[in-house]
Amino acid sequence: DRFDVLIRGGTVATATEVFKADVGIKGEEIFAIGHDLGRGDREIDANGMLVLPGGVDPHVHIEQVSANGILNADSWESGTTAAAFGGTTTVIAFAAQHVGMSLARVVEDYSALARKGAIIDYCFHMILADPTEEALTLDLPKLIREGHSSIKLFMTYDRLRVSDESILDVLLVAKETGASVCFHAESSGMISWMSKHLLAAGFSQPVYHPLSHPRLAEADAIDRLVKLSALVDHPIIIFHVSTAEGAAIIRRARGDNLKIFGETCPQYLFMDAGDLQKPGLEAAKWMCSPPPRTVDDQEALWNALDRGDLQLVSSDHAPYRFDTGGKLRNGDKSNFKEIANGIPGIEARLPLLFDAMVSKGRLGLDKFVELTSTAPAKLFNLHPRKGSIAIGADADIVVWDAERRVTLTDETMHDRTGYTPYRGREVQGWPQIVLRRGKVIIQDGERHDEPGSGRFVTRSRMPESTGWLASHVAQHMASLK
Ligand code: URP
Ligand code: ZN
Ligand code: ZN
Ligand code: ZN
Repeated sequence: DRFDVLIRGGTVATATEVFKADVGIKGEEIFAIGHDLGRGDREIDANGMLVLPGGVDPHVHIEQVSANGILNADSWESGTTAAAFGGTTTVIAFAAQHVGMSLARVVEDYSALARKGAIIDYCFHMILADPTEEALTLDLPKLIREGHSSIKLFMTYDRLRVSDESILDVLLVAKETGASVCFHAESSGMISWMSKHLLAAGFSQPVYHPLSHPRLAEADAIDRLVKLSALVDHPIIIFHVSTAEGAAIIRRARGDNLKIFGETCPQYLFMDAGDLQKPGLEAAKWMCSPPPRTVDDQEALWNALDRGDLQLVSSDHAPYRFDTGGKLRNGDKSNFKEIANGIPGIEARLPLLFDAMVSKGRLGLDKFVELTSTAPAKLFNLHPRKGSIAIGADADIVVWDAERRVTLTDETMHDRTGYTPYRGREVQGWPQIVLRRGKVIIQDGERHDEPGSGRFVTRSRMPESTGWLASHVAQHMASLK
C-alpha cells in the first residue's frame, strides 16, 4: 500500500493500549495501523517516540469578549497556534451571548472569527446569558440541531449568571434536543458578600482573591446543580472543580446513579493559593475563578481523576494581557474585583500533565491519553472522529518525545498574553511533531499551516427525550393511594 504519510517505528498509545506500530495515513484519515504497511509519500521516523492522539481541549476562551467587555489576548490564530504547539488538535471554545444579544447572531459572529483564524479543528459551547423566550424556544433548539450541541451556564458573574429557573428551562431544552449543559458552579451571593467585606477592609490585592471565592460557594453550587439535574433527569458537566468538597459531592451523586460529570484544570492540580503571594499586582497573572486552592485539594482532585469521579482536565485557557487592555484595566490601583479572571494554559496543558502522569508516574500513559484526548472527545460527541488513534479516525496525531526536558518560560509560549503562570517549571516530555487531519502543522518548532486551515467539527447529539412533564405527572398519580 502507498500512504500519503507513514509514521514509522513509534509506540502508539490509546486510552486502553500501548503498542509498537506504524500508522498509515491516506488523505485526512488514519487508514492502517500495524507493521510492514508499505511506503509513504512522506515518512516520519518515530523511533523512540510516542505516537498519541492529538489533545482535545474542551474548555478554552478564544477571541472572546468577557462580561466586562474585555477582549481576550488571543485571536483564533494565536490561540490555536499555541494549542498546536502544545499538542492539542481540537478545541471547544465559546460563543458568548451577553444580555440583549441574539444567540443565533452570536454563534454566527464567533464562527466567522474561527473560520478565518483557526489552524486546528474546533467547535463551540454556547454561553447563554439571556435566556429569553425567543432564545429558549427558537434559537437554542435550532442551533443545537445544527451541531452546536453544548451550552455553558454561569451561576456567578453579575452579567452572565442565570437563575435556577432558567437553568431548569435550559436543561429541559437540552433534554428534548440531546444537548450537553456545562456549568460554572459557584454561588454568587457568597462571592459578592465576601468581596464586599474584603474590599471595605482594604484587603484588595489579588492575594485576597481566593478568599473572595469561598470553597463553600463551590460546594453549595455543585450541590444545587446535582438537584436541578435530578429534577429534569438530564446529565450535567461541572466545569473547573477546584475543591475536595466539590469532587466529593460529584462522587456521591454518581454513586446515586445521577449523571453528573466533572472537569478540573491544571491550575487546580499544579497551583495553590500561595502562588498569588507576589509583589504588587504581579499576582494577577495567577488569578482565575474558581481560584487555586490548597495542596490537599490538589491531592483530592488527583484521586478523583484516578477513581473516575472527575473525567476531564481542560485548560480553561482564558488569556488576558497584563496591561490596561487586559488584566489591569483600572491601572496600578486595580483591586481584585476589577482584574479580569483567567489564566493562559492552552499550550502547557499536555506537557504539565504528561510530566506529572507519565514522567513522574502518577496514573500513567493510558490515563494521560484518556484525560487529554479520548474522554473529552467522547463526552462532547466528537468521538470516534477525534480522540483516538484508530482506523477511520481523523489523523490528528502527536509524535511525542517522552525524554525531552523543557523549562516553561514566558518567552516560550505562543499565546499572546506574554506570560505563563507555570514559568520556571521544568517538564519532561514534549510534542515534537503535530499532525492535524494528516497534515504536519508543527515540526522543528515551526508552524506549517495557515490561519483558516482548521475546520468546524459538527457533533452528534444524545438521543432526544420528550414527554418529561407527562411522565412526572404519571409517576405522581401512580404513587397516590
Ligand atoms: O477565571 C476564569 N476561569 N475565567 C474564564 C471564565 C470561566 O468562568 O471559565
Ligand atoms: Zn513496524
Ligand atoms: Zn467558568
Ligand atoms: Zn472558562
